[in-house]
Amino acid sequence: MAQRLTMEDLVSLSKRRGFVYQSSEIYGGLTSAWDYGPMGVELKNRLQRFWWKEMTQLHDNIVGLDAAILMHPRVWEASGHVENFTDPLVEDKVTHERFRWDQLPEENQKNMTSPAGNPLTEPRQFNLMFKTRLGSTEDSASDVFLRPETAQGIYVNFKNVSQTMRVKLPFGIAQIGKAFRNEITTKNFIFRTCEFEQMEMQFFVKPGDDQQWFNYWKTERMDFYKKLGIHPERLRFHQHGPDELAHYAREAYDIEYEFPFGWQELEGVHNRTDFDLSRHSEYSGKDLRYLDEESKERYIPYVVETSAGLTRSVLMVLADAFEEEEVGENDTRSVMRFHPDIAPITIGVFPLVKKDGLAELAREIEKNLREDFSTFYDQGGAIGRRYRRQDEIGTPYCITIDYQTKEDRTVTLRYRDSMEQIRVPVAEIGEAVRKATREYRRVGA
Ligand code: GAP
Repeated sequence: MAQRLTMEDLVSLSKRRGFVYQSSEIYGGLTSAWDYGPMGVELKNRLQRFWWKEMTQLHDNIVGLDAAILMHPRVWEASGHVENFTDPLVEDKVTHERFRWDQLPEENQKNMTSPAGNPLTEPRQFNLMFKTRLGSTEDSASDVFLRPETAQGIYVNFKNVSQTMRVKLPFGIAQIGKAFRNEITTKNFIFRTCEFEQMEMQFFVKPGDDQQWFNYWKTERMDFYKKLGIHPERLRFHQHGPDELAHYAREAYDIEYEFPFGWQELEGVHNRTDFDLSRHSEYSGKDLRYLDEESKERYIPYVVETSAGLTRSVLMVLADAFEEEEVGENDTRSVMRFHPDIAPITIGVFPLVKKDGLAELAREIEKNLREDFSTFYDQGGAIGRRYRRQDEIGTPYCITIDYQTKEDRTVTLRYRDSMEQIRVPVAEIGEAVRKATREYRRVGA
């Protein structure tokens, strides 16, 4: 069983290795906002590309979209967010610290006291949407919201996409983008933040076919995490009970991951029925029915939604990838076992020594690899140390250029997980790396 990191370790490792920094740290930081460092931005971008490929390229009935963050304010009335997107909030009357009422221990709720023992205000519903103003007038007619989910951008474009792309039901629209929620409690690093990113797909189906597609997407989305090499024993489904269902959902399952602080939601798969399109039809006055060319019927499609957090997934892969491993009798190494497709750097390139033209040769080989792979050149320190530094940021392949390279144009290719080293011709490095990535299986998962 792999050793798990505590959250404290994870925060400090993420900073040390350039994955995630506290926002505005030199000013003391801003609660619940985080910046992605040089390694973090690569990891996040690759993870989103992995999802995008899986959801669009590998499904011929899903197209993409990138809608604006700011939308017409009526969108949020139609979606139910103005009315329903609230959390019950209480405030410590002495410290003015705020808490979610439903997350306080029963004892505190009974005594109306904060965890510090001070009296609490009465619970009141607090809307999680951030409000801002468009233009320079102070008129409330110009109030707009930062979107709390990307899904609505898809619904309001349903007619555009279905008319311009000649897609037929069932089909999906996928989108990745920022979302904002004025969360009352934000803890556990990048797990729950006020600004975050979602990867959502809305799958439009004929009413009556929704249950079958709901089951299909539940399985597909769980398989996605297994394909990414996540420990399967740290993944499970949680079905929403009647009191957990969102205002738009008929049936919902969370895919949960066992984070260092316990089992928590990673992604939601929801049967949203015809709720959203019906409401947008009603509020906009536009006919959003779909014309079924076979049956000549017109109807509002049902929607099966898959909704994953991108930034939350970054936390999950960081937590899941970390391993401390014994090497030989009295040595250990720290390794991030990222799937090679999402590792920030794919190939580390090292000259065995700097002299005798090896550095120049290594630079030349690295330059050629850059067209197709993200590479990192390192000529500092003992070769073993250089391998370990790449292990720590999860680089799946390293190549070493030595004296033999000068003679026969071969290099040593070293695999991160097995630490196996093989000799390959320079001209075949790309293919060897692509093959190993295609065949990648997580060690111990
Ligand atoms: N469109 C449906 C929807 O937004 P949700 O369950 O509220 O459903 C979906 O959110 C996913 O978005 C969650 O499973 C989580 O991964 C991510 N998410 C939600 N709120 C978040 C927050 N405050 N910080 C980070 N990720 C969040």
